[in-house]
Amino acid sequence: MKIISVVGARPNFMKIAPFIKAIEKYNQNSQEKIEHILVHTGQHYDDRMSRAFFEELEIPDAEINLGIGSGTHAEQVGYTMIEFEKVVKENKPDWVVIVGDVNAILACSVTAKKEHIKCCHIEAGLRSGDMTMPEEVNRLVADRISDLLLTPDRLSSENLLKEGVPEYKIKFTGNIMIDTLENNRKKAAALNIIDIINQNSVNKKESDLKVNEIHGFAVMTLHRPSNVDRKEVLEPIVRFMLDEVCPELPLLWTIHPRTRKMLDSFGLLDEIMANKNLYVLEPLGYLEMLKLNMHARVILTDSGGLQEECTVLGTPCLTLRWNTERPITLTEHGGASVLVGNNISRIREEYHSALKKGRTPVSPELWDGHTAERCLNEIIDFSKNCK
Ligand code: UD1
Repeated sequence: MKIISVVGARPNFMKIAPFIKAIEKYNQNSQEKIEHILVHTGQHYDDRMSRAFFEELEIPDAEINLGIGSGTHAEQVGYTMIEFEKVVKENKPDWVVIVGDVNAILACSVTAKKEHIKCCHIEAGLRSGDMTMPEEVNRLVADRISDLLLTPDRLSSENLLKEGVPEYKIKFTGNIMIDTLENNRKKAAALNIIDIINQNSVNKKESDLKVNEIHGFAVMTLHRPSNVDRKEVLEPIVRFMLDEVCPELPLLWTIHPRTRKMLDSFGLLDEIMANKNLYVLEPLGYLEMLKLNMHARVILTDSGGLQEECTVLGTPCLTLRWNTERPITLTEHGGASVLVGNNISRIREEYHSALKKGRTPVSPELWDGHTAERCLNEIIDFSKNCK
């Protein structure tokens, strides 16, 4: 059997690493070998957004890089389809495996199906219901045309059934990103927070050692266009952080390239850089972020992956969105995250309540570190039973 799996942007790397390891393990123990080709679309290309993850998660270099780079959605999807079609025609895989919700999954699922190749989506069935999110469009298209839909939780399986997907295509396999978390917990725990700050700091020459594991700190990440692309939304969030969080708690803000560009263009970057209690950090490596998450008193984020990691680690998480495709991470479903949108009085209220909370780690069903093996087994079974 020949599988092409596809990655494009940062959140994909944590999801593909355990899948590749599962294939390696299968090949060691089985007579029949799986031939695997990793394709990187090249959507994320900075070392800190891509290469660093391959190294620390021990992902072999992608055999093929499509070199798509930045661009509008249509440019990214269109160029990916043009290049990926050549790869599929030349390599003739049995399966194309896609993970997550970035532009690559839309481009590569459509291309694969038009070449009559079976497509498997890992992390299928997540729905925010928000059609202004590019990721929601990607998920809907990929799930509609994929042959095998591997879901991270039962709510996602239900979403697919409600949309009329036949039951035989849907398999609940658990959350593959948690495989990576479990594989890396010990390594992350061994890191030192001051080293992380010193090695990634943008605005401090030398950490003044005000940040430590005992007194605590807050962590923020923001990158969604809905939060960062308009000054009237981004500025009040920045003001809240500068005026209300930083005076009482050191804030570690890992800045995504998109956010940094927007802060600069809105004239907000200088004040952020000058604040003594705000540590502006470059995009962090996987282990570094995991270490900060293990000790943060609160995380403010619009990332889907962090909501999941906060749930497993028990870190109180304020999700700066009005909806989520991952309801299982919300406190009402037993998780660690609350939706606060970009309403400052709501952010303030939940921020103070988060500081009073302790850590309550929760592992939803099948978030157990063994999802990748189940995913591979489902692909093998489907190949045998559903020709
Ligand atoms: C993409 C994904 C999003 C994911 C996020 C994680 C889609 C639709 N979005 O959003 O789901 O949560 O990645 O980071 O696929 N840039 C760099 N260096 C890079 C990559 C990007 O400077 O290595 C810049 C680009 O020039 C662009 C901006 O960052 O201006 C945004 O990058 P883009 O890939 O368009 O989308 P993300 O916002 O990163």
